[in-house]
Amino acid sequence: MSSEGAQDRAQPVAADDFRRACGRFATGVTIASVVDPHGTPHGLTVNSFTSVSLDPPLVLVAVGHTASVMEAFREARFFAVNVLGAGQRELADRFARKGQDRFDGLAWHAGETGAPLLEETLGEIECAMRYRFTAGDHDLLVGQAVRTEVRAGAPLVYFGGSYRKLAEGESAGVSRSRID
Ligand SMILES: Cc1cc2nc3c(=O)[nH]c(=O)nc-3n(C[C@H](O)[C@H](O)[C@H](O)COP(=O)(O)O)c2cc1C
Repeated sequence: MSSEGAQDRAQPVAADDFRRACGRFATGVTIASVVDPHGTPHGLTVNSFTSVSLDPPLVLVAVGHTASVMEAFREARFFAVNVLGAGQRELADRFARKGQDRFDGLAWHAGETGAPLLEETLGEIECAMRYRFTAGDHDLLVGQAVRTEVRAGAPLVYFGGSYRKLAEGESAGVSRSRID
């Protein structure tokens, strides 16, 4: 490829093409959550969650700058990642909807770090905030896992802009584990 060609290739793709291509990557669905200094819980539906490092155990979530919860995430020392099961699509919808108290009337409790944990999720990862980067229109929040818990069940899956379930027999049972 000529250097001119390489330069052409540096142009960003159109937003729709980008969205469609990224949508070919199947993800789980999580709710990232923090509590503010007044004890009020905040959270949003997130599929940008990924594990980053094993030693130390680091995870990442990307939160959009325009998200109403952005400020609470910027100030928080801890956050939690609540991994949703196949039967928790309503929670995913609720935490992606604008203009309502997402925790109103919902069963939740504070974890050991104070971060809000939802009931009956597939897994929970409580994290201490370690790094924050700005990348485009999102903040990348990297946290060190300080406590985990897992439960058996099938995951909620997001693919091609829709929620999916794994085909029968593809979800493994797991036993509880914990890291202190
Ligand atoms: C399946 C799914 C995954 C999402 N993943 C993210 C994400 O990784 N990061 C993010 O900032 N918003 C994500 N969103 C959007 C937010 O959940 C939410 O809709 C957005 O923050 C707007 O709400 P707000 O401005 O009222 O906070 C996702 C939404 C859905 C439905």
